[in-house]
Amino acid sequence: MPRLALSPKVLDHLDFGTPSAERDIARGLEKCFVESGAYQRVNSGAKTIVLGNRGSGKSAIFQMIAKRERLAGSNVIELSPDDYSYELLSATLVAERKGSWAKHGAYAAAWKYLIYVLVMKEIAKKGMRLTKNGGADIHRYIRDNHATGNLGPLTLLVSYLKRLEGIKIGPLEAGLRTRELDRLYKLEEIHDLLPSLKNVLDKRRVVVFVDELDRGWDSSEDAKSFVAGLFQACVSINALHPNLRVYVSLRQELYDDIPALYDDMQKHRDLLERIQWSEESLLELIAKRIRYSAQEQGYDGDVLQRATDPACWAGVFASPPGGSWETTFRYTIERTLYRPREIIQFCTDALESARGRAKKLPLPFAAIARAEHTYSAERARDIAAEYRYQYPGLLSVFEVFRGRRHTMTRDELELLCLELATGDIPTRDTFPWLPHCDPDALIEILYQMGFLIAQPLGDSVRPGESAFYGVHQVHQINLAAVPHFQVHPMFRNYLGMEEAPAPAHT
Ligand SMILES: Nc1ncnc2c1ncn2[C@@H]1O[C@H](COP(=O)(O)OP(=O)(O)OP(=O)(O)O)[C@@H](O)[C@H]1O
Ligand SMILES: [Mg+2]
Repeated sequence: MPRLALSPKVLDHLDFGTPSAERDIARGLEKCFVESGAYQRVNSGAKTIVLGNRGSGKSAIFQMIAKRERLAGSNVIELSPDDYSYELLSATLVAERKGSWAKHGAYAAAWKYLIYVLVMKEIAKKGMRLTKNGGADIHRYIRDNHATGNLGPLTLLVSYLKRLEGIKIGPLEAGLRTRELDRLYKLEEIHDLLPSLKNVLDKRRVVVFVDELDRGWDSSEDAKSFVAGLFQACVSINALHPNLRVYVSLRQELYDDIPALYDDMQKHRDLLERIQWSEESLLELIAKRIRYSAQEQGYDGDVLQRATDPACWAGVFASPPGGSWETTFRYTIERTLYRPREIIQFCTDALESARGRAKKLPLPFAAIARAEHTYSAERARDIAAEYRYQYPGLLSVFEVFRGRRHTMTRDELELLCLELATGDIPTRDTFPWLPHCDPDALIEILYQMGFLIAQPLGDSVRPGESAFYGVHQVHQINLAAVPHFQVHPMFRNYLGMEEAPAPAHT
C-alpha cells in the first residue's frame, strides 16, 4: 500500500490535537471532525442526551453543534463546569432524610425554572426586537425580576430549591403547603410567559448545552438529584417547541451510579445516544488530523483527500521490520479502550518522544514503544481516578497484578480476586466496596471498566486477531462462561506484566 509522503516540515508542525474538545475547537476541530452517526443523530435533534466514557467525544459533539448553530444565527447557551458545585449544594440544602422532600422532583422543577429563565434572558438581551405578542412580556419579566447583577446560574437554581425546601419542611399548615408547592412545581412565576416564548421561538432558535456534569462529582444525594432532575427537565423543555433544544451529556459511569436516573430513563431510552467508536472510525480521526497538519504546511488538498486513511497513518508511523501499517496501528489501537482522547494522547506521546531524534517522517516504531510506558502509567491512573467514587483505591487493586503473567485462567483469576476481597492480599482505601465483592462480582467490575479482556467460549478466531475482547468491543458476553482472561494491553507496560503465549484455543 502506498504511503503518504510527508516532508520534515510536516514533522515539525504535526499536531494530533489537545486532549479536550473545549481547547480543540479553537485549534481547528471542525476541520478534522469525524461526523459520526452519533453526531448526526444528536445534531438532528433525534437524540438529546449524550452518554459516553471520559474522552469519548461528548464535548466535541456539543462544541461542533454549538459552533454551527451560532453560524446559522441561533442563540446558544452553554452551561460550563464552573457553574456547578456539588459541595455547595450539599452544604446549602437540607438532607432528604431530615425532611422527606422528594428531591428529584424539586430539582427537576428548579432546573426547568433555571433553563426557561436563561432562555428568556437570552432572547430579551439588548438589541433583540420583541413585539407585543412576540415577547414584550418576557422582556418586562426579565427586567423586573432578573436584572440585578450577574447572579450565576447555580445561584438561581439554588434559590428556587430553597423556596421549595422552605415550604416542604417549613412550619406551614398542610393545605397552604400543598397550594404553595403546587405553585412552585408548576413554575407559576413564569408559566404565563410560555405561550409568548413559543411565539418568539417561531422566529428564533435557542440551543442550550449542559456538559461536564462530572466535574467535582461527589456521588452525594444532591449530586444525584441534580442530574436526575436535569434529565427530567430536559425531556420536558424539549417538548415545548422544536426551536428550543436542550442537550445534556453525562459520563456513562455516573449514569450507572444513579439508579433513579436509570429507572426514569427507561421511559426515554429513545432520546439517549451512547457514543461508541470502532478501529476504523478512530483511524479516520487520526488520518484527518494528519491531513489537516499537512494541509497547513501547504500540501495540496486534492492529494491529501485522495490519500486513504491507512496511507496517512503509514506516512507518519513506519512499520516494524516484516510488518505492515496495520502492525503499528493495531499495536496502538489495542492499547486503548477505543476513546479518541486515548489515541490522540498515545500518538502525541509517540511524536514527542521522537522529536529531536527523528529528522523525517515516518517515525520509527521505536517512537511508539518509547512512549508506551508514560502513556500506560497515565491511563492506569486516569482509569482509577475515573472510578474513584464507586471504587476507591482501585489503583492498589491494579498494583496486585504487577509482575504477573497477563493471561490467566478463570481459576487463577478467581483465586486472586478472592484473596483481594478477603484482604489476604492487602490493598489501600478499598474497604467501602472490595470486601463485599465475591470473585465473580470483582471480575465483572474489572471487565466493565476495561481492565480485563475476556476470551468468549467457543469463539472462532481469525488469523491475526486477538481471541480476547473488552467491554469496548463486545456488548453481550457471558462472563460466567469465559475460560481465560487477560489484563488489557493498555495497563500491561505500567504493571510490568510478563508476555505469555496465548492459551490454546478452546
Ligand atoms: N468526532 C470527533 N472528531 C474529531 N475529534 C474528536 C471527535 N470526538 C472527540 N474528538 C477529540 O477527542 C478528544 C476528547 O474528546 P472530548 O473532550 O469531547 O471528550 P469528552 O467525552 O467530553 O470527555 P470528558 O468526559 O473528559 O469531558 C478531544 O481532543 C476531541 O477534540
Ligand atoms: Mg467533555
